[in-house]
Amino acid sequence: MHRRLSPVLPRRRPQTVESRAVSALRTPAGAGTLDFDAGGHLYATHALHPFAARCPPPLVAWALNRYTSPGDTVLDPVAGSGTTLVEAALLGRRAWGAEIDPLARLIGLAKARPIAPESIISARDRLASLLNGSDALDATWRPELPDLKKWFREDVCADLSRLRAAIPRADGQDRRLRDLLWVAFSSLIVARTSVANARDLVHSRYHIRVWTSNPDAPGRYHARLTRMAKLMADYIERLDGEWPEVRFVGADARALPIPDESVDCVFTSPPYASALDYVRAHIFAVGWMADVLGTTTEQYRLPPGRRQPRRQAGDRRRRRGASALRHLPQPARGRPRPRAARAHDRAPGGQARQA
Ligand SMILES: C[S@@+](CC[C@H](N)C(=O)[O-])C[C@H]1O[C@@H](n2cnc3c(N)ncnc32)[C@H](O)[C@@H]1O
Repeated sequence: MHRRLSPVLPRRRPQTVESRAVSALRTPAGAGTLDFDAGGHLYATHALHPFAARCPPPLVAWALNRYTSPGDTVLDPVAGSGTTLVEAALLGRRAWGAEIDPLARLIGLAKARPIAPESIISARDRLASLLNGSDALDATWRPELPDLKKWFREDVCADLSRLRAAIPRADGQDRRLRDLLWVAFSSLIVARTSVANARDLVHSRYHIRVWTSNPDAPGRYHARLTRMAKLMADYIERLDGEWPEVRFVGADARALPIPDESVDCVFTSPPYASALDYVRAHIFAVGWMADVLGTTTEQYRLPPGRRQPRRQAGDRRRRRGASALRHLPQPARGRPRPRAARAHDRAPGGQARQA
């Protein structure tokens, strides 16, 4: 009897599909088709924004080529930064995703929806004139991040605040472009060479790296947009005139609002629940963009279904709002505790943050 892998997949599948997948991985011929090297991963828009544990794009392409046809609908229910969406679009498949992290959703959309490179360059130049012009841009806005002064220099805060004020005035009312401008903003913060006094937050280790001079967020932003325009040009060239359907069909993979049998293929690389903490990795950028992402730092760190912070009698830390620190990097003190006991591996209430 045929057993369905998931209700979103059609009931009728070619009888051999599972056995083909397994045998392809076992036979030398099948294994040979997965021959790719790390240097070939950063084509199209894959390098638009850093993201921990991205799936290798050639692996997605291999699977989609093998198990789907042009026009099929491909779903990645934990889409992360959108590698599957980009690959599906490049192969002429309808690209559907779900992702619980609003920052990741924004990155995925910016990567997979083509934007004319010239409009990125125009926005970059408009931004430069706004930043260098005589119009006052608010330099005083600050995010609700505990220990802000420890993690961001005062001059960096002023630069980020001015950029925040300039972005909505530089997008020419184009929603896609605006999303991309915010993704560029986030990439200043979620980066190994972040403008924050921190690096590589996704892994559990000591992260503070204090800038001794201003890292020039506006200059980096300008350079990011120049690079993004090049990446987008490469993506559009590879699309070869095909404008793909790309959309997020939901947030939480465990409750997707799509009908049964509505997709042809599910491709995904699941969360590394105890190894990578995406909330911790993204929280500085989310703090600076909380209004754009429709969240708050406090809400963002809560697991799904607990989006209203719950207060407990006598919990002074929570009353002071300091619980957002749960996902902020903490200085190492003494000997490391066993992994399972580290606070940032767990969300409040002792539940793992990811599904
Ligand atoms: C390993 S990453 C996926 C990386 C992705 N393949 C890429 O190349 O960018 C796993 C993702 O699962 C997301 N995630 C965790 N729990 C989820 C849930 N219940 N529903 C949807 N997404 C979830 C995380 O936010 C994270 O972005």
